[in-house]
Amino acid sequence: MATELILAVDLDDKDVAKKFLAPLCGELSWVKIGLQMFLKYGPGIVDEFADAGFNVFLDLKLHDIPNTVASAIKSLRGRPCGMLTIHTLGGAEMMRRAMEAAADALPQTRLLGVTVLTSMDEAQLSGIGVSRAPMQQVEVLAKLAAESGMRGLVCSPLELPCLRSFLGEEIALVTPGIRPRTAALDDQSRVMTPADAAKSGASYIVVGRPILKADDPVAATRMIQQELR
Ligand code: C5P
Repeated sequence: MATELILAVDLDDKDVAKKFLAPLCGELSWVKIGLQMFLKYGPGIVDEFADAGFNVFLDLKLHDIPNTVASAIKSLRGRPCGMLTIHTLGGAEMMRRAMEAAADALPQTRLLGVTVLTSMDEAQLSGIGVSRAPMQQVEVLAKLAAESGMRGLVCSPLELPCLRSFLGEEIALVTPGIRPRTAALDDQSRVMTPADAAKSGASYIVVGRPILKADDPVAATRMIQQELR
């Protein structure tokens, strides 16, 4: 399956975002919106971006007791959301209940599991009582997610080869931390190019600032799409 590009629309204002996205409509299919806009504008923001012609990846990283996560997902009933994130750390039962709720309320939505946030290093994990190295912890949570029936995971590009080695092709791997060779790193440290991420088994790559801050966003998008092909 070809690797697809997702633009992380990390902007404050929906009108600024829509204006930015208009010329990109034929250039990419997916946009990611997160808590920043969701909490400011409410769930209707999902419909607005879908109406503008994009598949919406809603990055809410839900994490609570199973019943609460399932109820939250049901509150999104019918929203045109193609992907939605939950934390695998919530456990197998939470993931199962989330999938049941999604099958009922959001049948078109692929739930993605978040494993270890890339902001957590070994010392931070140890601080919350996790003695495994980050990669080992990612593996444990990825296996749990797959066994619980999850059909997608968010991961760092450096985790791709390991995760692909034991996960079936039906599990989508979605990875941020992508930088074309010519782009600035911003605050990302362990990055991969779009082409390398595609070769390593990414189903989707998430790119924000290299497009959001480009002098010519259409050209920057086309360059990434070309690399992915
Ligand atoms: O601008 P940049 O390409 O770094 O944006 C990457 C996007 O992916 C942001 O929305 C960021 O929050 C998200 N992300 C990330 N690293 C993770 C998880 C999500 O960069 N581990």
